Amino acid sequence: ELSPIDKAKYVAAKRAADYVEDGMRVGLGTGSTAAWLVRCLGEQVRDGGLRFKGVPTSTRTADLARDVGIEVISLDEAKWLDITIDGADEFDGDLNLIKGGGGALLQEKIVATASDQMVVIADIGKEVEHLGAFPLPIEVIPFGWQTTQALVEETLISMDVLGRQSSLRMNGEQAFMTDEGNYILDLHLQRIGNPRQLALVINQMPGVVENGLFIDICDAVVIGYGDGRVEIRD
Ligand code: A5P
Repeated sequence: ELSPIDKAKYVAAKRAADYVEDGMRVGLGTGSTAAWLVRCLGEQVRDGGLRFKGVPTSTRTADLARDVGIEVISLDEAKWLDITIDGADEFDGDLNLIKGGGGALLQEKIVATASDQMVVIADIGKEVEHLGAFPLPIEVIPFGWQTTQALVEETLISMDVLGRQSSLRMNGEQAFMTDEGNYILDLHLQRIGNPRQLALVINQMPGVVENGLFIDICDAVVIGYGDGRVEIRD
């Protein structure tokens, strides 16, 4: 028996699995919602004879996809994808997103951008009026990360954006490390007035590799509810 939140994630993932057709090249997202999708697709491969190639957005997803019997290829082998299906930490009315709570934002953004279509799967709790209550992850290279952090904070404070502070994401006693060997700074912004501008400004700073704002990338959100209902926004 699933909890309401898991049920919401599951029904969204299950519905989104219908987007995948024989012969497609499919970007596979990262996180607990995307894991439901990967399991659903694995079931369809095993029991329904579905044939497609998956491009995972993290080592975690790659491992899971292989475990459930999905054929995994790299983005460079695929070159271009028909669709990417991924979770999100927040989505707003314009279908702009915050992603990276799971630390896979860089591969996720590359894969989503290389896709004809990006579909987000999320429980209704991820919907927001304004992005930013969820801390915005930015991926920075380890070299000089404290200098990069200071630069980010100074710039955002001067733009009147930074809510409180930014923090280095930890994994126990160690800095959390991404699949690419980078660190994550989580920016506590509370409310992002102009996500498009913020994404551009952050990505211009030396040391920053990518930020978790997905602007004009998502085409549809499949929203799951705890009672099993599904709603599609596009
Ligand atoms: C991974 O880096 C994130 O972008 C995830 O897509 C996001 O954190 C959603 O994860 P859940 O589905 O576990 O909420």
